[in-house]
Amino acid sequence: SADAAGVAKKVILAEPRGFCAGVRRAITVVEEALRIHGPPVYVRKEIVHNHRVVAELSRRGVVFVDSEDEVPEGAVCIFSAHGVAPQVRRNAEARRLDVIDATCPLVTKVHQEARRFADAGRSIVLIGHREHEEVEGTYGEAPHEITIVEKAEDVARLELPGTAPLAFLTQTTLSVDETEDLVQALRRRYPSIVAPGTGDICYASQNRQDAVKAVAARSDLVLVVGSRNSSNSLRMVEVARSLGVPAYLVPEAEALDEGWLDGVRTVGVSSGASAPEVLVEELLGRLGRLGYLEIETARTAVEDVVFKPPAQLSAGRAARV
Ligand code: F3S
Repeated sequence: SADAAGVAKKVILAEPRGFCAGVRRAITVVEEALRIHGPPVYVRKEIVHNHRVVAELSRRGVVFVDSEDEVPEGAVCIFSAHGVAPQVRRNAEARRLDVIDATCPLVTKVHQEARRFADAGRSIVLIGHREHEEVEGTYGEAPHEITIVEKAEDVARLELPGTAPLAFLTQTTLSVDETEDLVQALRRRYPSIVAPGTGDICYASQNRQDAVKAVAARSDLVLVVGSRNSSNSLRMVEVARSLGVPAYLVPEAEALDEGWLDGVRTVGVSSGASAPEVLVEELLGRLGRLGYLEIETARTAVEDVVFKPPAQLSAGRAARV
């Protein structure tokens, strides 16, 4: 459709968007566990931070619990994509749970770095959101050595001596630009601080932020499909806003406020790494009914990352069950 001036209303879809390799793997783990063991299968925390994914798996017999303590002894317990602290593993073992680990391999990599730095006698500054499950898990690897910082002010407040051997790590789903600022602040205060081998922010977060930036530059409004507790989706909204474009998180198509569309000709749309494509389709359906019928895809990268399922779900084990 067209407005009074005859300019068509359109949607620019960011690509890459939606599921990353870690989320695909985590959901496959739960589906395979259901197939092999039958319901109920227990999952500690949300398998990925998306309400639709959790609702759909609940319907199929998955029981989501907050703590491994809630899982009956001997039952199957899946750890979510965000990872767990070693204490949780020990507790699950003590309760003889049949653990299947769906931790994203890129989160596991950060855990390994935390252990390596701690074993080398370094204090670790962990950049991330204190209340996020991933940060809780990484922190648990070396609670005595790790200090969490969320923003530049926290760096100024650090009480680590300038002479201490230091390293930093980051949560995998942060804003690339904001993290760069924080790292620079850290380097100014602690010039000899050691960086992780390769950056900890994962390829999916980086690619989705790059893609949403490209789309935001050409849009009057940006909508990011994702749940309110999805860190990477929230960062995508912030990245679009940092370019001066109004941007909102849209957990469901119904959350779209038609007032946001006043005077808007071009809507940029993307979705976080845990958001299923069906939610994007539902939003496009609603936008279409509001006159945004033309859809263009703007691709900034091609993703071909695939993570193998964990060993517990390999063919050998499945055959034994
Ligand atoms: Fe893993 Fe990054 Fe996805 S850490 S779960 S690939 S958002």
